Amino acid sequence: MKRLIILNINGENYEIAVKDNRTLLEAIREECNLTGTKQGCDVGDCGSCMVLLDGVPVQSCLTLAVACTDKKITTVEGIAENGKPHPIQKAFDTCGGEQCGFCTPGFLISSKHLLDCNTNPSLDEIKNSLSGNLCRCTGYTKIIEAVQVAAKELRTLQD
Ligand code: FES
Ligand code: FES
Repeated sequence: MKRLIILNINGENYEIAVKDNRTLLEAIREECNLTGTKQGCDVGDCGSCMVLLDGVPVQSCLTLAVACTDKKITTVEGIAENGKPHPIQKAFDTCGGEQCGFCTPGFLISSKHLLDCNTNPSLDEIKNSLSGNLCRCTGYTKIIEAVQVAAKELRTLQD
């Protein structure tokens, strides 16, 4: 038995029909056709499915869609601002923070949350913020560098 729900994703309302056990990840990708959010492990280990729920990163593979009807959901498609890439998106590109790119949406979401809270994070704070995200390609060094570059740009924009 499905029920109609409305999900607010990236500022738009999506009216969809889902079963109670449909995960937010499945609903985002399959009912809302937003495929930037990736399905990796599906058990909460890899972070590739990370989205912001009222500004807080969550693993959408562990979250039920029906529990999110009163929340603001942000996916990787929604982090650009005024039609321009977010500084963290630009920094991943310039620093080589992605290789196959499968983990990248999750890293961008976690990084954006960190930088929304703190534009001058220490190395330990960056590592801690990204501790729920796994990457099999980059060795993490360039990802951390990208966060530092984006943080610097955001501080410049604030001045
Ligand atoms: S797909 Fe959700 S944590 Fe891996
Ligand atoms: S860039 Fe391939 S898993 Fe991270």
